[in-house]
Amino acid sequence: MPHPFTLLQLSDCHLSADPFAEYRGQNPDANLQSLLPACRLLAADGLVLSGDVAEDASAQAYERAAAMVEGLAPRTAWIPGNHDERGVMAGVFGPAGFSEGPILNWGGWQIVLLDSAVPDRPEGHLDEARLGPLDALKSEQPAMVFVHHQPLAVDSPWIDKYPLTEPDRLWGRLDPRVVKIVAFGHVHQAFSGDANGIACLSAPSSVANSQPGMARFALDPTGPKARWFRLWPTGCWSGGIVSPG
Ligand SMILES: [Fe+2]
Ligand SMILES: [Fe+2]
Repeated sequence: MPHPFTLLQLSDCHLSADPFAEYRGQNPDANLQSLLPACRLLAADGLVLSGDVAEDASAQAYERAAAMVEGLAPRTAWIPGNHDERGVMAGVFGPAGFSEGPILNWGGWQIVLLDSAVPDRPEGHLDEARLGPLDALKSEQPAMVFVHHQPLAVDSPWIDKYPLTEPDRLWGRLDPRVVKIVAFGHVHQAFSGDANGIACLSAPSSVANSQPGMARFALDPTGPKARWFRLWPTGCWSGGIVSPG
C-alpha cells in the first residue's frame, strides 16, 4: 500500500483585526490556538484553509492566521469565504507562499479550489468561469473539490438559508469516477453526507460550532474543531475530526 497524503482542513476561523474581538461569544485567536497541538500531531502533508479565515477581511487577521498555522504542513492552500476579501487575502497569503490553486497535485490527488464567495452576500455561487478549473481534471487521477459554501442541505435551517445557490451547476460537472470528495466549510458543524455518489464533508469551525439540526445557531459546548483526511493515490481515503487535545 503506498504512503497516504495527510490533509488538514481548517475552516471558519473568523479572526478580526482586534485579537480580542469576540465571535459568537468566543475568542477566535484563543480557540484556534487551542486546536494547534492536536493539528501538529497529525504531521499533515498539506493544509487547506477553507474560508471565513477573517471575520472582517482585515490584513491583520490574515497575518495572524498565517503566523498561527505556520509549520502545520509543508504546503498550504486557501479559498475565500463570504466574510473574506480575496484581494486582501492574496496580499498576505501570496507572500507567505500559500497557494490559491486552482488545481494542486497533492499525493497523487487533484485538489481543486473553487471560489464560491459573492461580494457582500452570505450565500455562495459558482458561475461558469468559477467552475472552469473542473474542465482541466484528468480522468486517471482521483480528485477532491474544496468550496466554502455547502452544496447540499445540512439540515440546519440557520445556515441552510445561505447555501451554494444553484448547486446542480456544480453537481452536473462532477464525475464520481474521478471526484471522490467535496469538502466545504461555512456550516460551523461537522457534517458528512453523500450526493451523486460523492462524499460531502464539512470541516467544523476553529472558533464556534453549532449543535446539529438547529433552527438557530446553538453553541456546541465541545469547542473548536478541524477535519483531517488521508488520501491514497489509488483513490481510497479516510477522514475524521480534530479536537483540542
Ligand atoms: Fe463561517
Ligand atoms: Fe461562511
